[in-house]
Amino acid sequence: MQTAVACSNKEKLVIFSALIFPNFLIFQKFSSMSDVKKYTMAEVAEHNDKKSLWIVIDKSVYDVTKFQNEHPGGEEILRDVAGKDASEDFEDVGHSADARKIMKKYKIGDLA
Ligand code: HEM
Repeated sequence: MQTAVACSNKEKLVIFSALIFPNFLIFQKFSSMSDVKKYTMAEVAEHNDKKSLWIVIDKSVYDVTKFQNEHPGGEEILRDVAGKDASEDFEDVGHSADARKIMKKYKIGDLA
């Protein structure tokens, strides 16, 4: 024997929401975790010396304070572009794929 379950559209909507909503909350949590911080050029410009050295490359903001002493191209060259957009200088050097991998570690956000 088959029992027919009558289910109104409203009930269907409630069941659907109950199934989806917890997942939606989890989704929201994870997507907010991946939110990238935004900085203005004025904020970046404040970090312009060896004590706090930020640079912008291709609209990404990097805090290279801890990397400056390790930079194979020397620390002086990074200090020259401290607090500035160094995209052109970075590309001019023709940095290797390895360099691009290293830089990911120092990304702190995007340009607003
Ligand atoms: C997070 C940012 C940066 C990272 C991780 C990085 C990393 C590196 C690495 C690993 C090298 C060794 C060569 C290579 O593998 O390509 C290098 C060399 C060099 N870098 Fe950078 N670099 C950064 C930013 C910059 C910037 C902004 C400039 C210029 C203003 C610069 C100028 C140089 C120069 C002149 C060399 C030496 C090239 C040579 O001797 O042939 N770098 N860098």
